[in-house]
Amino acid sequence: MIDLSTKYMGLKLKNPIVASAGPLCDSLDKICALEDHGVAAVVLPSLFEEQLNIDSESVDADLFRGSEASPESTTFLPDLLDYNLGPYGYLELIRKAKRAVSVPVIGSLNGVSPSGWIQYARDMEQAGADAIELNIYSLVSNPARTAVQVEADYYELVRIARENLTIPVAVKISHFFSAIANFACGLDAAGASAIVMFNRFYQPDLDIEELEVVPSLTLSHPSELRLRLHWVAVLYGRVRADLAITGGVHSAHDVIKGVMAGGSVTMMTSALLQNGLPHLGTVLRDLSAWMNEHEYESIAQMRGSMSQHKAPNPGAYERNNYMKVLSSYALRKPILQP
Ligand SMILES: Cc1cc2nc3c(=O)[nH]c(=O)nc-3n(C[C@H](O)[C@H](O)[C@H](O)COP(=O)(O)O)c2cc1C
Repeated sequence: MIDLSTKYMGLKLKNPIVASAGPLCDSLDKICALEDHGVAAVVLPSLFEEQLNIDSESVDADLFRGSEASPESTTFLPDLLDYNLGPYGYLELIRKAKRAVSVPVIGSLNGVSPSGWIQYARDMEQAGADAIELNIYSLVSNPARTAVQVEADYYELVRIARENLTIPVAVKISHFFSAIANFACGLDAAGASAIVMFNRFYQPDLDIEELEVVPSLTLSHPSELRLRLHWVAVLYGRVRADLAITGGVHSAHDVIKGVMAGGSVTMMTSALLQNGLPHLGTVLRDLSAWMNEHEYESIAQMRGSMSQHKAPNPGAYERNNYMKVLSSYALRKPILQP
């Protein structure tokens, strides 16, 4: 019997597949269906700090400005209040989900300022959340702000969350950091129980006819997994925090790679949005079949086996592989035909 179980932030999960924050987990029905199809934990969509800071007064004031207010703001604020169920609906969803399912329920907060959301994080804990994922999605466009300042803010957010909560705190980060390994160690030292790698950066497109900046959201492609594999493999064994992979996990092979790189869990959203929830069953069956065929008894046995310090060729994760990769292209079809 193959043991698919894994531990994530001290939580015992029946397998390494977690439904990541997003529309898959925004209602009780969907969360129950995810559990029925075999998911091991759910992360609720993020509630934004801005939603918590909007009190009814500011909404009223905005609406009161009427025609003088920009069309964006009058529609934006009320929308924001309701987005992802809004602060009150969100806590209710945690409570209901905790009563209805046995898999861990992880709340997600998107906060950028140290004090904006901590009370709400406590409310999530009280509502029964098994852990909190801090989805720190800040786009630093101010040229005066340095990388050191930005990273220090992240550490501070994690420290404050750690001090105020008893449940584990995961941090979801993007890959736009110049020294990811050092940054991850800083998050670890600040008390993060897990580092979730990596948030996708939703780049807007330009409409050159209408001269507008157009928001765009595309689902992920499995090729996005490699960036995550690389950094998880490098960090495995160097941080105490668990490592979670999000971005490009579409198949059982992707789950296996994620675990072998050193991930405690792999997360899915796009693949399930594209293929429907029965895809979970396919991935789990393929995972067991592959492990059986390759004589692995447990996820624990596979974890980190291809991480940098266990890989037969640790240099494959370093600069000395760079030249090799570039030169390997030249060995393919010649660009100029003779
Ligand atoms: C429609 C949509 C909504 C999302 N909402 C959130 C969110 O609220 N909070 C968050 O941390 N990530 C959110 N994500 C990101 C996913 O959790 C995940 O990290 C990302 O899609 C990469 O994983 P994937 O390749 O499995 O899709 C969202 C993704 C999608 C497609």
